[in-house]
Amino acid sequence: MTNTINKVLVTFLPDEVAGEINVGETILTAARRAGVAIDAPCGRRGRCGKCRVRVLSGEISAPASEELSLLQPGELAAGERLACVATVLGALTVVVPESSRNMTRRKGTAALPYPITPEPWTRKICVAVPPADLAQRDFRADLTRLWTALNITEGESEYAAVTALPGALLAGDGTVTVVFAGERLLTVEAGETSAAHYGVALDIGTTTVAGYLVNLRTGAEMGTASLPNPQGIDGADVISRIEYTQRNGERVRKLQNSVIGAVNTILGTLAGEAEISVAEIYELTMVGNTCMHHLFFGIDPATLGHAPYAPVVTAPLTIRATTLGIHAHPQAQLRALPNIAGFVGADTVGVLGASQLATRSGLYCAVDIGTNAEVLIAKNGRVVACSTAAGPAFEGAKITHGMRAQAGAIDGVSITDELTIHTIDERAPLGICGSGIIDAIGELRRVGVIESSGRFTDHDELTDLPAALQARLREGGFALATAAKSGTGNEILLTQHDIREVQLVKSAIYSGILTMLEKLGHTPADLDGLYIAGAFGAYITREHAIGIGLIPNMPLEKLHFLGNAAGAGAKMALLSTHEYDKIITSAAEVGYVELAGDPAFSEHFMYSMELDVDCGE
Ligand code: FES
Repeated sequence: MTNTINKVLVTFLPDEVAGEINVGETILTAARRAGVAIDAPCGRRGRCGKCRVRVLSGEISAPASEELSLLQPGELAAGERLACVATVLGALTVVVPESSRNMTRRKGTAALPYPITPEPWTRKICVAVPPADLAQRDFRADLTRLWTALNITEGESEYAAVTALPGALLAGDGTVTVVFAGERLLTVEAGETSAAHYGVALDIGTTTVAGYLVNLRTGAEMGTASLPNPQGIDGADVISRIEYTQRNGERVRKLQNSVIGAVNTILGTLAGEAEISVAEIYELTMVGNTCMHHLFFGIDPATLGHAPYAPVVTAPLTIRATTLGIHAHPQAQLRALPNIAGFVGADTVGVLGASQLATRSGLYCAVDIGTNAEVLIAKNGRVVACSTAAGPAFEGAKITHGMRAQAGAIDGVSITDELTIHTIDERAPLGICGSGIIDAIGELRRVGVIESSGRFTDHDELTDLPAALQARLREGGFALATAAKSGTGNEILLTQHDIREVQLVKSAIYSGILTMLEKLGHTPADLDGLYIAGAFGAYITREHAIGIGLIPNMPLEKLHFLGNAAGAGAKMALLSTHEYDKIITSAAEVGYVELAGDPAFSEHFMYSMELDVDCGE
């Protein structure tokens, strides 16, 4: 009785869907129940302000302290609230603005470094099996005759293959297609089905989960799909997710289920678009940072949260995909690339494969810029790796008007006598994403609006600035879009706080590169090549990445942007056992360097906060 009285309906516009919740729960909880995606990159902590909604009518709690500090009085008066904090007191109608929606992000390309002949771990072979024959005195078992027809010494067969065999022989009139994983017989299908042989490479990022569907017979990539990692609602970064799980098995399972749910959505989308069945997906490979890897497998990541940051497992794992709840062929096999250390995971191993660092002679560096940044340095094929706590600023978190790289995000900025912005899908600007932030800081530094220290220049020193730019100067900020031009109705600002956040991230990355090179007796000037990996890296302007000191100053021809190299590594391992073995072997030889507490790193970090850090040294 009490429960019924306490339940109220929250209606979400413009979707026009409603969800029932208990009085006292948050709008965000109601949205999740109703299937409305609202972004919550700070993990519902009331810190990021990205979960804004507008209350049109109904009973709602008084503004909490988080709302009073993140929302302007005018915004509160207009009904704007933080969905993660504001609690529902009665039936409510709220509008979810586009800028708060958790939408599919811009997809990162995962191009292979060279053409790879398909040689997958799973194989399909069609074969005609002669029946037992009384006249010929052939009383051998069906399974024995199958192996003989294949001309292979009888090996290990899965139980599922044995149970499927009689039905398949009958339905196929003696012709069956067998599926092997390595030398093990996985299953038997009636008739000739060997053309239907697909695999998916999964890249489980902290922020984005991506899948690449590959035809394992031809090697052709048939589609890509990605979704925000739904674990983001319980923490934007690795540390906050480890804190969230707190050695609580139920929470580990909850995060595992949410990411597996996203994987299943991706598989369904990929299969639907390619007009195949998910049951024709026989093999998957997986990469992710060590924490994402552990949560994907339901392994408690608690030990990654404190020194010495030892992972539970680094060895490559193989498991039947359905054991994890993945919707694919019932016998589909999933193989995860190995981790290297607590903060250098299977995603970095993917980058190692795609960048081919282990087979290059000379001095090379690869940096994977995601929510964390991993740095690999290779000298004549000997590879060392480290991780730097970059943080999610380039994913839009902790940035005043930051957002992920999705429709409406400012992803490019250029300045002449006036400011020009570019947005994803050319929509009215809703916020700014990582590549846009780098461009904005780079351009504003170039025209003197930002000093080398990262501080905004005093306005009275900017009298030579063209009038159109002067008009955008604000106290402690710069307007990238005016209220009239923005898609939110509010100005989109780059603030002093945002520049500081970017300086922290870029300094961590740059110092990581410098420290690692120094340990090998080198400077950035000695590098024969620098590879930037990460979906975000594909969209940044090289000059500005160097100009703000994100990466070392070097000739542009030595700088290579790989896109999603972690995903490319997973694709390589999926396409070919030879590539898989090569990647595993080189990963086993990578040396790990811990930068936490390293005095050289701390020294470089302070120095590298400058935007005009002298990168060539
Ligand atoms: S402020 Fe609500 S999720 Fe961050």
